Parts: sequence; structure tokens; C-alpha cells
Amino acid sequence: MSKDNSDWWPNQLDLDVLDEHAGNPGPLEEEFDYAEAFEELDLDAVKADIEEVMTTSQDWWPADYGTYGPLFIRMAWHSAGTYRTHDGRGGAAGGRQRLPPLNSWPDNVNLDKARRLLWPVKQKYGRKLSWADLIVLTGNVALESMGFETFGFAGGREDDFKPDDAVDWGPEDEWESTSAERFDEEGRLGEELGNTVMGLIYVNPEGPNGEPDLEGSAANIRDTFSHMAMNDKETVALIAGGHTFGKVHGADDGDNLGPEPEDAPIDLQGLGWDNEFGEGKGPDTITSGIEGPWNATPTVWDLSYVNNLLSYEWEPERGPGGAWQWTTKNDELDDAAPGVQDPSDKEDVMMLTTDVALKHDDDFRAVLEEFRDDPDEFQESFAKAWYKLIHRDMGPPERFLGPEVPEETMLWQDPLPEADYDVVVGEAEIAELEELIAEFDLSISERVKTAWASASTFRHSDKRGGANGARIRLEPQRSWEVNDPEELASVLETYEEIQAEFNGLRDDDTRVSLADLIVLGGNLAVEEAAAAAGHDVEVPFEPGRVDATPEQTDAESFEALEPEVDAFRNYLGEDLPHEPEHEMVDRAELLKLTVPEMTVLVGGMRVLDANYDGSDRGVFTDEPETLTNDFFANLLDFDRDWVPVDDDEEVFELRDPETDEVDWTATRLDLIFGSNSRLRAVAEVYGAADGEEKFVQDFADAWSKVMTLDRFDL
Ligand code: HEM
Repeated sequence: MSKDNSDWWPNQLDLDVLDEHAGNPGPLEEEFDYAEAFEELDLDAVKADIEEVMTTSQDWWPADYGTYGPLFIRMAWHSAGTYRTHDGRGGAAGGRQRLPPLNSWPDNVNLDKARRLLWPVKQKYGRKLSWADLIVLTGNVALESMGFETFGFAGGREDDFKPDDAVDWGPEDEWESTSAERFDEEGRLGEELGNTVMGLIYVNPEGPNGEPDLEGSAANIRDTFSHMAMNDKETVALIAGGHTFGKVHGADDGDNLGPEPEDAPIDLQGLGWDNEFGEGKGPDTITSGIEGPWNATPTVWDLSYVNNLLSYEWEPERGPGGAWQWTTKNDELDDAAPGVQDPSDKEDVMMLTTDVALKHDDDFRAVLEEFRDDPDEFQESFAKAWYKLIHRDMGPPERFLGPEVPEETMLWQDPLPEADYDVVVGEAEIAELEELIAEFDLSISERVKTAWASASTFRHSDKRGGANGARIRLEPQRSWEVNDPEELASVLETYEEIQAEFNGLRDDDTRVSLADLIVLGGNLAVEEAAAAAGHDVEVPFEPGRVDATPEQTDAESFEALEPEVDAFRNYLGEDLPHEPEHEMVDRAELLKLTVPEMTVLVGGMRVLDANYDGSDRGVFTDEPETLTNDFFANLLDFDRDWVPVDDDEEVFELRDPETDEVDWTATRLDLIFGSNSRLRAVAEVYGAADGEEKFVQDFADAWSKVMTLDRFDL
């Protein structure tokens, strides 16, 4: 097998993650509009088809208790449960459970069967119904078919045809292992991670490191669920709600299982984990290696999980698969549950360490007791937490499609107000605004920085952030260090004056939002800077943004959007786990930028003097605020050595050999464009004698792209 460059040079900056933004890796045309196709579906008919599949047991993979409902809930939960707040990656979008590594994760054993069972439905509806939507919808249908009232369902998740290589799943190179690197000094899971064990969705069901340690397990659960933005109540609702249904499968230990789908023989056609124990299915199924149902009514929505957990004393034992599981102390629930194929074959009821941990932890137990005493509260809490779980990565309400979208908008959807005025649209009005902006004393650099700060919080992973809403003027964003809070406050004050003046002058209902004004100011600054360099360029302005209120903003949840590094403003955060250039690529990926777009934006922002803190690092020009290709021309021109000025080799300087004066200073975020061969190849195009015009146009295009990334309304 031939080696690729990353095998030879594992420390190389990985730019490949940006390549997917350069073109569509799937077979569907660029113009294909999934939202439009989805809206053509008769959702009731789809749901009826899913229910038919759910209750028709197949000999090749027989359903437990006559329904695939619980298996399908687990499939939907594992598809959504990879979401993490830190970068918004993971989650149900993309239908990535069908691609590696998720299709082969040890926690996803036998979900290959669940998806294969659904193929007839997928085949029937084709491109109108993505796998991503089908997986989630199937979870809802499963819950409803077993008597649970869900809160709603929205479609709109497009399928990916390539794994998301930008997700950080953790440092280990062995499945189901946990290394110390995952945790900080206080033992808390690293911010950027969603799970405590490589290849498991959240935590080890047997307890930390496979030991039935209830306290450690509760701590792990709280830690990991909080990375998915779930509080204690939502966490208990989800686990208790989910484990009201179905069973765990561990007829024997996993030694009888064949390789996972990615490594399985070709004749298995994408399925994996071929089971050689007994019949290899039905009562002989091996999934987690733990065995038994949680209650005697595993296909009915009721209180039996909560009651069993609270009413009995539980003690650990090794189950038939050799794993730790919990049994009632006095065997009260032995033989209490029906067999999966024949109800007269009795099974013992069990609990996982993670279930018993909920009872052991005082705060979690209080929620369990509340649910026991108030079943309606349990129903509502699980319904809302489940809805959040499966929709958390879909972005703003306008992306929620179909007849089952609830009326209520949730705070976690980062709602925006409806404009109760006429939005600035006409050229005359825009010209009027442009004149007003010019009258006020805002520099090119200030306007560029503010527009960038406003728009660049966007992340395509969970569609949060962006300029719409002008949340830049609200906490926490207005106080982020990267935003130079003092300067920002004064720029915002000026914009507010401009807004008041424009709105005050009008005798009609036309108004301008601060969100629009910030972007317009930035666009104009780019045009002015281009003109100063002798280039006539137009940056298109798309009005229609609105201003969100603090009540519409969950300030705490916005903290996850704070950049640790912003290469575009040459901001190096503190205590970075990697060299800052890796964070640069990561942020560019979240902004959907290609390698050339990232390059042109960094080079342009430098000459626009848009650095954090007003520093001159990387501002390789004698004419700041002028959109020249100087950054590239000068970077590639240096014939002397850059010398690091700090131990971390983050900041460098270049001195004049004769006077020893510092000519230029730079960070790694500048020098990487000269050192990395792919970036240098792009920089050479922009830095060439004939490169400036292209540079200016490409900058304007990339700028405009970032300014409109969150305009799902366009
Ligand atoms: C099954 C662990 C949270 C729904 C299982 C299984 C394990 C497990 C080990 C057995 C898989 C098998 O052997 O077939 C955990 C852990 C959780 C968690 C450690 C978090 C601490 C959830 C949540 C839900 C859920 C939040 C849904 C809201 C289910 C369902 C099954 C299941 C329905 C039964 C599947 C079947 O009958 O085939 N879980 N789970 N689980 N889980 Fe969870």
C-alpha cells in the first residue's frame, strides 16, 4: 500500500479538510435544493412506511419483542449524540453514521443492521429524504409507536458523502481506550471532546475504565452531557427516557464478533460484526456485551425504568458477556422480563453502571424522584430534551422544515426577531447610508475589524454565530479579548449614532438594523481600501439582517463561539494545545473557506491593518489600509532570517543587517504562508507582479462570502 504525505510527514499542517469546500464530493448537483425536495414529501406516508418496517421482523435480523423501535431509538440517539458545543461538530447532520469512523465505532455495533433495515424507505423516497433526516425521523416514529408523545420533528439535514475529517475524536489509537490526555488537571474532559472513551458516544456503560465506580461514572456523565449543552435535568430525562425502552445485548463476550464494517469482508456488503455465537442474532445477539432489559415492559412508554431504579437496591455482577452490570440485591427482578423472541422465555432485569450512577448522585437522584412523582414532567422533559438532542446542530428556525415543526422557538435555536419595519432595500437608501457612514469618523481598520468580528463567529458545523442579530453588541461577545472590547464599544457607539440618525430622518417605515450597518460599513471599507490601491471593486451588500435582544441570546452558550486563535486578526490565544496555524485551519474550516480563500483573507486583513490590539505583526506594507498584495509580495521577498522572539516560537522578527533595527515582526500565522508548500503555492499567485488585481477581487469575494454565511434567508 503506498504511503501518502501525511504518513511521511505526520506533523504537516493538514489543509485537506478545507478541500471539501472547494467542490461537492457527492453525486448530487450543486443546484440540488434539498429543502425544496424535502417539502414535497408526504411526511405521514413516510412515517407509515417507517412504522411498517419497524414492526415487520426480518429473519436475517429478527426484531426483539416484535419491534425494531428500541434499536431505532439507539440509532437516532447515537447519530445526534456525537454533537459537541465547543466547535458545533458531530451531530445528526450529514448522516455521517453511515461513514467512517462512526459506522465502525464499537459503540455503534449492530446499528449497521438498523440502517440496512431502513434501506427500502430510503430507496423509495430517494433524494427527497436524506439519510440524516431519515435516521432522526425514525427515532421519533419509534418513540411514538411505543406510546410516547414527541415534541416535534424538523427535516432539512443534507447528507454528506465524505467523512468529516475535521472532528477531533480524541488522542487514542486504540478503540475503547481512554488516555490521560483527554482530561485536564482537575480530571475534566477536554473542552473540544464529546466523549470519555475512544469509539463510544459518551461514557463507558460499565463505569470509568470498565470499573463499576458510581461516583466516577456520574462525574463522567455530567461532564460529557454538558459538552452537548445538556443540564442535569435534561441528562436524566434523556437517559431515563431512552432506557425505558429495549434492552442491552451481550449473550456472550465479543470474541465471537467479526470485524467492524470498515474492515469486514467484501461479501458482507458493508455490514460488519458478523456474530458466530449460536445463531448470531435474536437471543444470541452481541452488541455491548452487557445483557438484559431495564424493565418488564421494554416496548411501552411508562415509569418502569425510573421505578425499578429507585425502588430496588442494585449490586454489581459480571453478566453472561463478562461485563459489569447490576442486578437487584434480593433477585426481586430476576426472570421478570419477557424473552426477545418468545415471551415465555424469561430474562433478568438489569441496570448499567451509568444507570445506577444516576441514583447514586444526589442531584441526578432528585430529578429521578421528581420524574417518579410527576410523570407529566418526565414526559415533557424527555420530549423537549430529545427534541433538542436531535435538532441542536440545525441552526436557526428558518432551516427547520416540514409539518411537524413546533410553533415554539427554543432559546438554543438563537432566535432572531421579525423585522417590524421595512428593511433598507433600495439603492437610494443604501447610498444615503453610505454617505452617513462616510461623515462619521470610523477608520477602514475599525470598520473591517468590527464587521469581521461580527460575521466570523459563524460555524457551518451547527450553523450558529454570524453577523445576523448583531450579537456582537451583546455579552459575551462584546467583551471577548479578541474583539478589543474598548475599541469595539466606541465603534458600536458610532454605528448606533449613524443608525439613530438614519432612522430618525425617515418619514416612512424604512429602518436599518445595526447588524446590516456593521456589514455595510465593512464592505465600504474594503471598497475604499481597494480604490486607494487603484482597484475598482464592488462588494455586494445584502440587507435584511435584524438585531437580536439579550433575551433572545443564551449568553452562556455563546461562550463556546469565542475563538482561541483568530489568524485573520493575528490573535494568538493563550495556552494553545497545538501550533496556532492548526487553529487557523480549523476556524477556516468552520467558515467554509477553501485554501485560497483563507490565504487571500489573511493577506488582505493584514494590509487593511485589522490586527487584534492594533499590532503591526504581519502588516508587511508601508501603506496600511490600502488593499495591495504587499503582504504576499513582501513575505516571499525576504532574503534574511526570521528570528523567534519567544520560547514558543509564535512571534518572530526580521532585522536590518546594517542598522539592526527591527524591520518587520510576524507570527507563525504570517510565516506559515511562506513555509507550508501548499500555502506558499497560493501566496505566489497573489504575490506575483500580475497578482494584485486577482488578489483584490478574490479578497472581495471571500469577504463577501463570510459576511453572508449565516443568511439562510437569501
Ligand atoms: C441501549 C448505554 C444514553 C437509548 C444501550 C446499550 C448501552 C447503552 C450499553 C446497549 C446496547 C446493546 O447492547 O444493544 C448508554 C449510556 C448512556 C446512554 C452509557 C449515557 C450515559 C442513552 C440515551 C438514549 C438511549 C440518552 C436515548 C434517549 C437507548 C436505547 C437502547 C439503548 C433505546 C436499547 C437498544 C435496543 O433495545 O436495541 N445504551 N446509553 N441511551 N440505549 Fe443507551
